[in-house]
Amino acid sequence: MDAKQPGAQTPDTARMSDPDAAAPAPDAFFMPQTWDPSRYAANARFVAELGAPVLELLAPVPGERILDVGCGDGPLTQKLADLGCLVVGIDASAAQVEAARRLGLDARVGDAQRLSFDGEFDAVFSNATLHWMRDPDAAIDGAWRALKPGGRFVGECGGENCVAKVRGGLERALARRGIRMEDHNPWYFASASEYSDRLRARGFRVESCEVFPRPTPLPKDIRAWLETFAENFLRPIETAGRSAFLDEVQEDLRAALQGPDGKWTADYTRLRFKAVKP
Ligand code: BEZ
Repeated sequence: MDAKQPGAQTPDTARMSDPDAAAPAPDAFFMPQTWDPSRYAANARFVAELGAPVLELLAPVPGERILDVGCGDGPLTQKLADLGCLVVGIDASAAQVEAARRLGLDARVGDAQRLSFDGEFDAVFSNATLHWMRDPDAAIDGAWRALKPGGRFVGECGGENCVAKVRGGLERALARRGIRMEDHNPWYFASASEYSDRLRARGFRVESCEVFPRPTPLPKDIRAWLETFAENFLRPIETAGRSAFLDEVQEDLRAALQGPDGKWTADYTRLRFKAVKP
């Protein structure tokens, strides 16, 4: 799953000092990240390719009705359909949903923080999407309501300390321009204990929830990754200055993230969980 990002959001006034410690305030005027299917295919195919372990945790059974939250252009939705599941994919990006529909999938444009399904799914599944949810409780609540009793919510996304080095490079380059990173941060990277608490608070029984490092080799350089995933941080920079900004962040991160073979690796972590609606 891929392209994911809620609809509109507002400037962030309620963050705590540790950016991983609390969910950002859900907001109304924060521009969503946009997703270009061809750029996504070139720079982010690894997102679905690395989805096998969370699919295994989901353990889909043919005939089950499954909601794929943040289906993107549909590679994992397709896998579930090929296994004989009846899958509905939702994604905030109309362009990605169109690409998923071209595969013959039931994909719909929708905000994962405003799901309106009611007790109709055996499982809610999500890969690499929930860290874009500025209102995590709304996403958890939507999954809860979408599930039948006994249904499971299985997900994986960026967790605590995810892309911490990348964020450091962005923060320094933004600070040199007098821009506060947190004012433009679209990401929410929870710890396992925080996310478990949120799931339990909604009523889920948490079967597993963990955060672990997953250094992720990139198909291109960190500049291409930033262009694909970090659009929000470019917005406060005038268009003519964006290329220099990206060069600067890449140079800052070279020693930390580029190997002797020239290949770049992003310092991802994963939050992976399985929770059941009793
Ligand atoms: C992630 O999958 O962890 C991720 C993706 C885009 C931006 C930040 C993190």
